[in-house]
Parts: sequence; C-alpha cells; structure tokens
Amino acid sequence: MTENTTHRWIRWPDGGQQQLGFGADYNPEQWPREVWDEDVRLMREAGVNIVSLAIFSWARLQPTADSWDFGWLDRIMDLLHANGIAVDLATATASPPPWLTATHPEILPMDREGRVIWPGGRQHWRPTSPVFREHALALVTAMAKRYGTHPALVAWHVNNELGCHNVYDYSEDAALAFRGWLQHRYGNLEALNHAWGTAFWSQTYSGWEQILPPRLAATHPNPTQQLDFKRFSSDALKDYLRAESEILRSATPDVPVTTNFMVSTGIPAMDYADWAADVDFVANDHYVRPGPQAMDELSFSANRTSNIAGGKPWFLMEHSTGAVNWQPINLAKKPGELARDSLTHVAHGADAVCFFQWRQSSRGAEKFHSAMVPHAGEDSDMFRSVTELGHTLKQLAPVTGSRRRRARAAIIFDWNSWVASEQDSHPTSRFNYHQEALDWYSALLALGVRADVVPFETELGQYDVLIAPGLYLLTADGAGRLNDYVHAGGHLVTTYFSGIVNEHDHAWLGGYPGPLRELLGIRIQEFGPLADGDTAELDHGLTGTLWTDRIDVTDGATEVLASYKTGDQAGRAAITRRRTGEGSAAYVSTRLGHHGLEPVLAQLLAAAGVGSELPEALRGRVELAIRENGDSEFWFLVNRTADAVPLAGLDGQRLADAPVSTDMNDGGTNDGGTGDGGTRDGAIAPRGVAILHRGRTPERPRAPHGTESTR
Ligand code: GAL
Repeated sequence: MTENTTHRWIRWPDGGQQQLGFGADYNPEQWPREVWDEDVRLMREAGVNIVSLAIFSWARLQPTADSWDFGWLDRIMDLLHANGIAVDLATATASPPPWLTATHPEILPMDREGRVIWPGGRQHWRPTSPVFREHALALVTAMAKRYGTHPALVAWHVNNELGCHNVYDYSEDAALAFRGWLQHRYGNLEALNHAWGTAFWSQTYSGWEQILPPRLAATHPNPTQQLDFKRFSSDALKDYLRAESEILRSATPDVPVTTNFMVSTGIPAMDYADWAADVDFVANDHYVRPGPQAMDELSFSANRTSNIAGGKPWFLMEHSTGAVNWQPINLAKKPGELARDSLTHVAHGADAVCFFQWRQSSRGAEKFHSAMVPHAGEDSDMFRSVTELGHTLKQLAPVTGSRRRRARAAIIFDWNSWVASEQDSHPTSRFNYHQEALDWYSALLALGVRADVVPFETELGQYDVLIAPGLYLLTADGAGRLNDYVHAGGHLVTTYFSGIVNEHDHAWLGGYPGPLRELLGIRIQEFGPLADGDTAELDHGLTGTLWTDRIDVTDGATEVLASYKTGDQAGRAAITRRRTGEGSAAYVSTRLGHHGLEPVLAQLLAAAGVGSELPEALRGRVELAIRENGDSEFWFLVNRTADAVPLAGLDGQRLADAPVSTDMNDGGTNDGGTGDGGTRDGAIAPRGVAILHRGRTPERPRAPHGTESTR
C-alpha cells in the first residue's frame, strides 16, 4: 500500500542532488549518427539533465533470436555521459520484435471476442505468457549485465506504460493464470460460487477448469467475474513488473527501479496505489484532455499521483510540449501552457519534468506528436519555450526533495469503486466516477481550498473533511473506518451511488446506502436516475442531473440542507447532514456539476472550519499548492485564467516565475525571474505560475476534527 512505498531517488552522477530532472524520451535509433551530436548540443542548451533511452529498442538490440547489437547503445550512453546527461534506461521490453511474434505467435494477446491482437503497433504481448516472459527477461538480464555499471545509468525504466494497450487479455494463458489467481483468492469453489453469486442464471462451477475470463457472452457477463478479472489483470501486470524488477535489483541493488504509471487515463485499468510499493520512486505520464476542466484534471492527476507516492517526490516521465497525435483533434498548447502544465506537476511534488519526446519523429505513427525539438528545428518558439522552462527549473533547484504539504480536506479516489461503479447493468450507464470526483475537485479549486486526492487506504484521521463521491463499493471494514472517522470528529461528505455493494459486488440489503444509513440518518428505498436532458430543481437555485434518490430521513438529528422542488422526489430531501458529536456526515443525492457543488461545498467546509489559505482576491483565479522542506515553504501559485492576476497580499521571495517576464503589476520590481528580487508585489502572467519561497509556518497542532478555525 501507499504507506509502504520504498522511496529511493536518482543519484545524479556528479553528486549534485539539488536539481530537478528535466528531459525526455530519447529515441536516437530513429536518427542517423550525425543528428546525435546536434541532439546533445541542444540538450545542453535547454538544460536537459536526463533522458529515457531504449524504450522501443528491442528489435534493434536483438535483431534475431540469437544475435545482439549493443554497439549503438554503448555509443549513445557514452556520448550522453560525456555531456553530463544521465540516463533512465528502459529494459526495452515494451514492444516485441517481429522475429519473436513470428516464431511464437502464442504470445499475442486475444480480445474478448477471441480476435488475435496482431503485431504492427506496439505492446502486443500477453502479460501472462510464459514464452514472452522468458524472452523479455533474457533481454532484461542482458541489459542489466551490460549497462549496470555504466556511469550514465541513474534509474531503470521497466518496460513502458505497462497495460497501456494489453491490460485485458482473454487468451488461454490468461484463462490459466486467472484460475490460479482465483484459487489463491477463494481457496475453494464453494467460496468462489458464493462470491460470484453463481446461483443466478445457472452459473455454478463444479471444476476450476470451467472458469474463463469474461469473454464475449450472450448478455451481461457475471459482474463479480468481470470485477475479479479486472483485479486479476492489474495484478498480472504487477507480477510482470516484479519479474523484471527482481532481475534489475539483484544485478544493481543501488540503482532505483521505476516504471511509468498512467494515473489519469480515465480508464480504471491498473490499481496504482497497489503498485506503488513495487517501484523505488513513482513515475507518471500525463496528457492534457482538452475541455473546460482540462487544467483541473491536470492538477487532479498530479495530486493523485503525489498521494499514490505517499507524498514523496515523484517523476513526471512524460507529458507533451504541445499537441499529441491520438486525440480526434490534436490541439496545440497556448502560449504559457507548456510551462504552466509542467510547473503544476512540480507544485504537486514532481522532482522531474520530462516529455515524450526529445526530437519529433519524421516517420511513424507519432510524427505529428509534439516534442522538445519540433520538425521546425531549434529556431522555433517551441524550442525557445523548452529552453526557458529548463532555465526556470534550474531556479527551482531549492525545491528538490521537498514534500507536498498535506491539505485539511481530501477527496477519496477509490480504485475498486471506480472499476465496479462503471460496470454494465446498473441504474444508469451515464455514471462516470472519475468525472464526479473531478467535479468536487474543481469546486475546491474554485473556492481556493487546497485538497488532497487520496486512495481509500490512506489514514483518514489526517483530514478534517473527507469527500467520498460515488463510493459504490464499500466493505464492512471500509464502512467501519468511515464511522470511526466521523465519531472521532471528522466531517464526511458522500454522494449518490455510495455504499451500495460489498467487495463481491453484492448489494447491501435493507435500504441504501447500506452500511452508511445510520451514520447519515437516511434510508433510500429506490434510486431515481434521470433521463438524458432531464433535470431536478433543488432549493437555493441548484439543479441536479443524472440521478436522484428517494430519501427517507430516519433520524431526528439529520438536517435537510436542500430539498427537491421538482420531479419525482419533489418535497423530499436532496442534501442532508447529520452531526455526531464533533463530527458530521453529509449526503448529496444528485449530480450538481462543479459549479453547483461550489455553494454546497462552501457551506460544508465552513461548518468544518476549513477555508482558503489564499487572499480573497486570488481565490478561484489561482491554484495554490505548497511544498515544504526544513524551514522553507514553497508556494506555487498557478494562474487558472488567461489574464494577469495581481499577486498582492502574499509575502515571500519570488523564487521563479513562468513565463519569466511577469511584471505587469502594481509597482513591484521585475527581476526577470532570476529569483533575487526579494519580496514584491507583482502579477502572475496569463497562464503563468509564480513560486514564492517563504519561511515555514508551523503546522498547526491537530485539534479534534473540525474544531479549528479557518486560516
Ligand atoms: C505514451 C507512450 C509514449 C508515446 C506517448 C504519446 O502513452 O508511453 O511512447 O506514445 O504516449 O503521447
């Protein structure tokens, strides 16, 4: 779990530990030798100090089953080292070469319809294939042996984005491994039959060999079978990560091992909170998803990554300088966004900022994907922005190693609820767990209140306010933890479609939300999902969509904060809160969207004594994230708007700005971002970021939950 994360960071070759990483995926095998010299010259110019190498190099390193070609990699490793650039070396196993798939087609994955996933793209391998594993691990062994002592090597990069394309494999290998996983989980068939509810539709198993992955079926496949298959698929890849890591750790015990997570794909494939203990430092890839909440989502993802990493520094392994190539319309970034996006990750604990990729490919599927050096070459605004970012990151060296400061409010982001709540045959297919959680986060940003996005396994008592949106899957133990939290004075806020099923996806009986009924002082007999386009009006001008609940208030202590005014639930409670001693438990029964959630959240936070740390004029316009170290605090102030925002009312040394020329202000001195300007008023540029270095304000002693006053 998160708490056990072993944390070992990069040891830079020159011993200069006080630096943030800056670099990219580097694919020199796509370019002739003479370009390499230009590459390292430009890397130095931009301030690049690390690159990820050999990610897709298997076919180049092992051209046939029994021939190897390491010469080119030796040369580029040496060249990088000679230029002071460190290497995060991939194990090169991400994409199997044609000779391997031609001789061993049994490593190719199969989709749920039984179709083979053929070579031609990448990552066409079965996570559970013993044949793939044998060949891949031979390559890992060869890489560890050859480069384990190379002075450029600072980290191992296992495979690449494990599960990006191959997480769900329905092949015979997968079936076999799934059965083994189930035997381990349930011990005997009786327990499995109970957990899967196989009395339904004549599904009772009488032998393990009858069990299959949830392949294409006549109608809805068994939901617990589906849920377990997703749990198994995450575990199968984690097991593969372990297999590569074991080889690397035994060959080079001092070199940290990582792999790049994809925390924000919007698809609940891998349980990264559960994987975190298996990497020496957490690394993540993030790509902006255009839309009104794009910036909020970036912050949400960085925040979540930080908490998956247990609050320790993490590595932004990939993001983009501009457009990607895989969205329906690939939008360029606007001026300022390159730096702002990067620094938002740093604000949330990233100690390295890397991109996909260094030099934009001239051929292949990603030739229209942006890079640090675009097709236009070094004489480009893109490369100039990249170089400016490199300069800014150097100014931020003092931030290295600092921890993200814990907030007083947190959103629980629970992997099991995410997976289970979005399965088929539910009251509505429109429920989107990630979106609901993001809406609460956007509302917090709009109020200027810092919050953490945490896995459910986190120590809950650290927070004054806990928001648990759509906590669909709730075990008896989980419900007990929430009860204890509230009874110890915590303020819980939960929503519709929470506390519905247990770990086996069995409905809690007696009325919803099963094990939270008493705590919330309500009982729901029936859900009232809304048709597309339908709304339900609430008091205070609030409008609900997607869902309503038919709520009975069952406890005299339950307050009704808002009722339904229209629709089937008119006159009934829509938002409730029940106080328990110092604590409280609130329930929001409809989808309010991020704007609608703002006033509701403001009321609930105020009652819990949690407020913004920002001066009033900045709230909503600026996102605040704080990192701290020894006697220092670093306040990252991210301009959420396309206008300059005057930065008045906050003292501290201006450590850095992005973009650098931000002096559109009310009288401050512009130090051009060199960091020596001392305290001043100024403005944060449109889509800009200001970083203030401040003396440490002591963490306030924890009073019982909710009794502290707003800062
Ligand atoms: C990632 C992948 C990179 C590159 C990038 C493009 O998923 O790790 O190799 O394909 O996406 O956005």
